[in-house]
Amino acid sequence: MDMKAKFDLLDRKTAEALQGGGPARLEAQHRKGKLTARERIGLLLDEGSFQEIGQLVTHRSVHFGLDKQHFLGDGVVTGYGTINGRTVYVFSQDFTVLGGSLAEAHAEKICKVMDLAMRTGAPLIGLNDSGGARIQEGVVSLGGYADIFHRNVLASGVVPQISAILGPCAGGAVYSPALTDFVLMVEGTSYMFVTGPNVVKTVTHEEVTSEELGGASAHASKSGVAHFTAPDEMDAIDQLRRLVGFLPANCEERPPALPYEPTDESRPALDGILPENPNQPYDIREVLNAVIDPDSSMEVHADYARNMVIGFARVAGEVVGCVANQPAVLAGVLDIDASIKAARFVRFCDAFNIPLLVFVDVPGFLPGTEQEWRGIINHGAKLLYAFSEATVPRITVITRKAYGGAYDVMNSKHIGCDINFAWPAAEIAVMGAKGAAEIIFRNEINSSADPEATLAAKEAEYKDRFANPYEAAARGFIDEVIRPRDTRRKVIEALRMLRNKALSMPRKKHGNLPL
Ligand code: HXC
Repeated sequence: MDMKAKFDLLDRKTAEALQGGGPARLEAQHRKGKLTARERIGLLLDEGSFQEIGQLVTHRSVHFGLDKQHFLGDGVVTGYGTINGRTVYVFSQDFTVLGGSLAEAHAEKICKVMDLAMRTGAPLIGLNDSGGARIQEGVVSLGGYADIFHRNVLASGVVPQISAILGPCAGGAVYSPALTDFVLMVEGTSYMFVTGPNVVKTVTHEEVTSEELGGASAHASKSGVAHFTAPDEMDAIDQLRRLVGFLPANCEERPPALPYEPTDESRPALDGILPENPNQPYDIREVLNAVIDPDSSMEVHADYARNMVIGFARVAGEVVGCVANQPAVLAGVLDIDASIKAARFVRFCDAFNIPLLVFVDVPGFLPGTEQEWRGIINHGAKLLYAFSEATVPRITVITRKAYGGAYDVMNSKHIGCDINFAWPAAEIAVMGAKGAAEIIFRNEINSSADPEATLAAKEAEYKDRFANPYEAAARGFIDEVIRPRDTRRKVIEALRMLRNKALSMPRKKHGNLPL
């Protein structure tokens, strides 16, 4: 073979690999409203930056007709490139090749980029679109999945891992995304479940569609498996690019900062944000938006446990992770879902050097058998644990209520917060004044001529004593009581002061988070 023929052979192989499952299947992919594996990578990465690895890999199976079906790349496109100039690794399953099904060679390709991501310290993004284990290849598929799961766990906390679900993701295949840091799903074209509607029908007699069982909205609002949803793939890819922009490349780096020009940081509107009646709701997002840089936020889990708001934002150009009780939903009460949602986010931020900015307005933990029997004790403890072990800069602002155990849990001074602010209307106490008065003055109230008036008087007395920030400030639990308008300025200064915070935890193999 002369040199020209050798070059031609390479060109032919490349052209063949680029075809995926062939024009008819690519067309079918588009008809379903889905992009192809390569189109997705093209949009995700900076133009022209993608470098493919393993384009010529094929499977080695000879069973069930696979000896006659060889597709270059084996149903997954893998490699690396950049997002806004920063390196990321990517794998993109190609549904047009054997349904994007995963077996030995396909898994090896994914493992190769995972190993490189860990070795070089750069995020890994998985674009999932697969019929699951390649049935013809049998047990090697299971081995392939497990090889990936193992690496997901090893990479956890080393490099950010992000999963986009852009088609089917069923059976054991769901556990790789579940082990990654963030899951994004596209409405209408993606689903995730451990067992599909047919099995569900056989076992539990429930009639349910794939979409109802495991579509984007089910996982964004009911299960919490999905952190983000997108109306279509273009939007999904925009969100992935945006998300990466908040994250450091690995656990040794700081998140990327943007330039910031100091200006007037006063936010007078915040002085009027709290309703006169402390039982009236307000939207904590308005507080957050006033404190962070304009339009700098990306909410996480927006439709799940809406009594807690979490997300990334920038303050004076620096990335922060925001955690806030939401008084506009269930009065901002802490329940199981909110605790788990915030705990996982706090741990992510801590793993990747993202300072925590916490807003507190919490009446306590949600009472009731449903919560107790589902284990709010353990789940609430997750949030307590997550904050307690976080060594990143930590700032708390108590805007209004901070009652009971929830006060301790929500990034209090006692569990390691660095700077604790409270607004003048803050109520920091063991419990609400009415409940407290009913308990400690029970005899006095019951024996009085006018129990109602006595209760009201005792309630007022308790409120005067404890429903304020000054008792806590006197003990140093609160570092400063601040006017709401000054919150942004104070947070900027505290973040700057904490920039070089260095704290190490006691030596251990690992802690035992109350799972
Ligand atoms: C091999 C597969 C495949 C698979 C799909 N294909 N899934 N090939 N192994 N798992 C092939 C189809 O044969 C078809 O080939 C092509 O992909 C497209 O599939 P269609 O069925 O035409 O597409 P669609 O109608 O969109 O349906 C998609 C689907 C369906 C719902 C995913 O294909 C399906 O149910 N597949 C089987 C899913 C499954 O049972 N997987 C194993 C689960 S067990 P042609 O040549 O016709 O284009 C599992 C365990 C993992 O995953 C354990 C990990 C620990």
